[in-house]
Amino acid sequence: MSKNIENRDRLIVALDVPTSKQAIELVDLLGERVSFYKIGLELFMSGEYFELLDQLSARGKKIFVDLKFFDVPATVGRAVAQLNGKGVTFATVHGNDSIMRAAADNKGDVQILAVTVLTSLDRGDLDDLGFKCDVAELVLSRARRAVELGCDGVVASGQEASAMREKLGDSFMVVTPGIRPVDNDDDQKRVVTAEQAFTNGADYIVVGRPIRDAQDPRAAAEALQAEINAVFS
Ligand code: C5P
Repeated sequence: MSKNIENRDRLIVALDVPTSKQAIELVDLLGERVSFYKIGLELFMSGEYFELLDQLSARGKKIFVDLKFFDVPATVGRAVAQLNGKGVTFATVHGNDSIMRAAADNKGDVQILAVTVLTSLDRGDLDDLGFKCDVAELVLSRARRAVELGCDGVVASGQEASAMREKLGDSFMVVTPGIRPVDNDDDQKRVVTAEQAFTNGADYIVVGRPIRDAQDPRAAAEALQAEINAVFS
């Protein structure tokens, strides 16, 4: 399936900052270099979430609502329905089959991404949670069910993207956080570079701290866009 994604939209910047003022400062600093933003839990708790959503829309930006909905299916369905008509491109859901189905059935004009296994978790963390299977197998089985249940795509590490493409095809989106240039010492464990993510089959990457905390965020975004253009030229 041809997804017709513009190269520039393939970079989604995570606005992980405490206030909408700081978020807009970063958005305006990045300017035309970035067209797609993810707003998550930190900004949700600022109380300024929907004002910020409108400000991003007014600037012509695409918006990814990353609140990882997880609740009983009826509540998840009704929460997702609330996003309809608000100018949201992607929203995340994190749960079992009935939760994913409820999100997909109520998506309206929003595309639903299912979180497979957080990229901050590794084998040891899954053991702690009581999952005895392999990380790659778990990601694949969750992705397969998400697609069958009507989700538009999955959030998954670039390390698992190629297996998903091989086994499940190309009809769904793979959105990959955990992008790091080389060795990494923060909380993200299953990391890949931007180039690896795309060559493994990702459609979009999500990048937060490597841009937010860069000495020159504009240069960091430009470098990632250049990497994207090189892969898709
Ligand atoms: O700063 P960093 O580049 O690690 O940011 C990654 C972003 O992607 C964070 O906002 C995090 O919440 C989000 N995310 C993730 N893993 C998932 C889903 C979302 O890291 N499975």
